Amino acid sequence: MRRKREMKTLILYYSYGGNTKRIAEMIQREIGGDIARMDTVVPYDGDYDEVVNQGQREIAEGYCPELKPLNISWRDYDTIILGSPVWWYTFAPAMRSFLERADLTGKIVYPFTTNGGWLGHTLKDFEEACKGAIVKPGLDVRFDESMLRTSEKDIQAWINTIRR
Ligand SMILES: Cc1cc2nc3c(=O)[nH]c(=O)nc-3n(C[C@H](O)[C@H](O)[C@H](O)COP(=O)(O)O)c2cc1C
Repeated sequence: MRRKREMKTLILYYSYGGNTKRIAEMIQREIGGDIARMDTVVPYDGDYDEVVNQGQREIAEGYCPELKPLNISWRDYDTIILGSPVWWYTFAPAMRSFLERADLTGKIVYPFTTNGGWLGHTLKDFEEACKGAIVKPGLDVRFDESMLRTSEKDIQAWINTIRR
């Protein structure tokens, strides 16, 4: 008898300032699985306000920055946890670039975001952008700059909903 191929979980995130990375790593410590960070070919530089303004223009235009190659064996994963900071009430342009090209058909997706308190339509946008996937309820993690404001208990409760 051949054993059924074991499916795995991937945590894939974008993080400009490190908050989303921190939550992605917290999730991995709890549930295991693989973790990967997406990154833009052209880095965002300049001071924070310049990046905020650049982000506003990019979101308004629906701009999709080119991403560095991810080299992920998608077939190995049935569950994908997607994390992004909120940029102007939606996920960051890098996540948009990923979602425009990704084939998530049949995958189970758990989205999460970090933000400064204005989640906007980010989780709804994830639901719409993950075409063909089963999108589970998402997590909204609040930070004040780099200070975590959402309780670890609430984050843990969401992590406990992830199918293992
Ligand atoms: C370009 C830009 C736009 C942002 N827009 C929002 C927003 O619409 N709502 C909000 O609550 N926070 C907003 N923020 C704050 C970030 O979502 C928040 O600091 C997040 O935790 C950053 O995650 P990171 O450190 O992983 O990049 C914005 C930050 C940047 C840089």
